[in-house]
Amino acid sequence: MLAPLISADAIAGRVAELGAQISRDYRDRRPLLVGVLDGAFVFLADLCRRIDLEIECDFVAVRSYGDGTLSSGEATLTRDLTVDVLGRDVLLVEDIVDSGITAEFLLRLLRTRRPASVAICALLRKEGRAIRELPVEYLGFTIPDRFVVGYGLDHARRYRNLPYLATLDDRPA
Ligand code: IMP
Ligand code: MG
Repeated sequence: MLAPLISADAIAGRVAELGAQISRDYRDRRPLLVGVLDGAFVFLADLCRRIDLEIECDFVAVRSYGDGTLSSGEATLTRDLTVDVLGRDVLLVEDIVDSGITAEFLLRLLRTRRPASVAICALLRKEGRAIRELPVEYLGFTIPDRFVVGYGLDHARRYRNLPYLATLDDRPA
């Protein structure tokens, strides 16, 4: 059963704030937004339209092994960037940082390609779940340790199109 957690209005308000913050912090630069597929596509679409700068967008896809609700600790790249990040200001855009394994994997990979900077922008972070302590420079919301869907986040590919965020009650946390 779905139980609403964060409304579409609350998400929109927070995304606008993040966009304004990014616009200030990256003033006079042209950041490359790297969306982590599939989950970040909705967030990135809204966020990029709240950034008042010349930006570029690119995408990566990562498979993390697990049962769908828990990462097992390994990640592999299933789609690479098309843009060369050498000397670029890269902003990694994630739907959710849970264990942090996906984000850490991507940070390490990107750093081998010598960008000027890399920062993480995540819509959500789960309380008390981090296996990897990562800096998340731009964070939408901290949420309780529950399985959430909507606004790009799925369970078995369902619910990505929900305009709000909800917990999925019949799933273990
Ligand atoms: P991490 O590697 O454990 O940080 O997991 C990151 C990925 O796991 C996210 O990009 C999501 O695709 C997925 N994930 C983690 N928690 C949830 C959740 O509560 N709902 C939906 N997807 C999740
Ligand atoms: Mg998923």
